[in-house]
Amino acid sequence: MTATLGNPTPATTGTDAPTITATATTGTATADAWTPICAFDDLLPERGVAALVDGVQVAVFRLFDGSLHAVGHRDPFSGAYVLARGLVGTRGNAPTVASPMYKQVFDLRTGACLDDPSVSVPVHRVRVRDGQVEVALG
Ligand code: FES
Repeated sequence: MTATLGNPTPATTGTDAPTITATATTGTATADAWTPICAFDDLLPERGVAALVDGVQVAVFRLFDGSLHAVGHRDPFSGAYVLARGLVGTRGNAPTVASPMYKQVFDLRTGACLDDPSVSVPVHRVRVRDGQVEVALG
């Protein structure tokens, strides 16, 4: 319930994407803990935002078709928390994000790195409830 939009700087680099700190209120957490992030309308199409969900940095993307994807914010190649600031695109049928560091491309649906099949990022669940974007880890 308490999601705050803002720019609390993550430990890494300069930020040009907003970082959202979402704290699940104790007592509302269920086995299926969904954490509200922000209003759907706050998300710009084809742009990512970084959200902190239970201490985990998540990159949430709204695509042109209105669909949402959530993957780990950490770029496994550089170790930097930057994927929310990556370039959104497609490769074949796959909606993708390219790391702003070394440009590896990840499938937003599976987290798989399309440039190196041995690498992937975690995929998280994301949905809209009453106009609010919610994320569940795992
Ligand atoms: S240097 Fe931080 S995202 Fe580009």
